[in-house]
Amino acid sequence: MAEQFSGGEKSRGLIMKVLVMLVLISFASAARLPLSRQKLEVRKHLNRLNKTPVKTIQSPDGDIIDCIHLSHQPAFDHPFLKNHTIQRRPSYHPEGPFDESKVSATPKQRTNPITQLWHANGKCPENTIPVRRTKEEDVLRASSVKRYGKKKLRSIPKPRSAGPDLINESGHRHAIAYVEGDKYYGAKATINVWEPRIQQPNEFSLSQLWILGGSFGEDLNSIEAGWQVSPDLYGDNNTRLFTYWTSDAYQATGCYNLLCSGFIQINNEIAMGASISPVSAYRNSQYDISILVWKDPKEGNWWMQFGNDYVLGYWPSFLFSYLADSASMIEWGGEIVNSEADGQHTTTQMGSGHFPDEGFGKSSYFRNIQIVDGSNNLKTPKDIGTFTEQSNCYDVQLGNNGDWGHFFYYGGPGRNPKCQ
Ligand SMILES: *[C@@H]1O[C@H](CO)[C@@H](O)[C@H](O)[C@H]1NC(C)=O
Ligand SMILES: *[C@@H]1O[C@H](CO)[C@@H](O)[C@H](O)[C@H]1NC(C)=O
Ligand SMILES: *[C@@H]1O[C@H](CO)[C@@H](O)[C@H](O)[C@H]1NC(C)=O
Repeated sequence: MAEQFSGGEKSRGLIMKVLVMLVLISFASAARLPLSRQKLEVRKHLNRLNKTPVKTIQSPDGDIIDCIHLSHQPAFDHPFLKNHTIQRRPSYHPEGPFDESKVSATPKQRTNPITQLWHANGKCPENTIPVRRTKEEDVLRASSVKRYGKKKLRSIPKPRSAGPDLINESGHRHAIAYVEGDKYYGAKATINVWEPRIQQPNEFSLSQLWILGGSFGEDLNSIEAGWQVSPDLYGDNNTRLFTYWTSDAYQATGCYNLLCSGFIQINNEIAMGASISPVSAYRNSQYDISILVWKDPKEGNWWMQFGNDYVLGYWPSFLFSYLADSASMIEWGGEIVNSEADGQHTTTQMGSGHFPDEGFGKSSYFRNIQIVDGSNNLKTPKDIGTFTEQSNCYDVQLGNNGDWGHFFYYGGPGRNPKCQ
């Protein structure tokens, strides 16, 4: 009896154990199934993005720079580019009044050359391009694999006929200068480089130029280039060179840098999305980068140049609808995201985090802003407008002088007694 009883208890104990195990297993697999599916999706995406490198360079900031053979770059995943012959140089380069090598800023306004951090540890060979390797954690920070490398919301500042709801709804704030009402074939600016503080990881701060085509509808075309700090996209607070393009107002097409097929890079020295260094310091050394984007009048491609020496590559004309012809608006300036849930304004900084009236060495600037006109020359633009949603948070102030041509100071601290 005692034996039977204990035997019954034993088997009951065994059944309990088996039950507990079954429950545990089903919990585990319930938890694991979607996870592994996501992991698989992430791995597949990484395999698509990260091509087999010819050489790999470890950057001091933790980035891995892969030197990818020119013809293996992400652009050539695009079905339309299967038989594409890479253009090794633009057929045309616009010239203008401000030759960088001749612009001798007054000693007070001296600025310094700038480079990319990974250069400290090596170079990419000829016929390769440097590509910032995407890591698993980069993709996992995005809301979904599909959204990785894409903008979350429409965020084009739409100055004159601005739909206030659209702009304020998305929480994007701008302080920009712009021109419209003509046909534009490119734009140029020299942009002061800072490392603005970002209050929370899902916010960003950037300074860039926008080449825009079409109305501000669902089919807006945009080419963008500049510097940004974006913890979500890169996993740190470093200031990075970036580009963006879309042909449908940030919906299905386009992405940052080389994170989708589109931009064709030819340069082996500058990596999209890599940190730029050094950055400017308040009342101290100032650094700036110049960016030129222009349309090749022969091939129709939109080319990009970084500094005086680096022609990075081009966006093929067929990626776009309106921009296949020309741009209808150019914007230069800063943008941040205000994602404060508690109704308070973010303390994320734009530019240097200081208002325009502080001037050189304290406030961030764009200088020598120019457009490429119908005769494919660089020109100082006429009738420049400015726009900001709330000048007490971030402001913009235009100026004009011999060395700097048309310029403006922009930015601000975000939340302050006048901006809550
Ligand atoms: C590429 O070229 C090959 C051979 O000329 C041709 O058969 C193929 O259709 C082309 N593909 C595209 C996408 O144009
Ligand atoms: C955006 O919202 C702020 C305050 O929330 C307001 O002061 C500003 O006028 C709005 N801007 C536009 C363009 O609607
Ligand atoms: C980025 O800066 C914020 C504050 O400005 C800080 O809280 C955060 O830890 C920084 N992130 C990294 C990865 O350094």
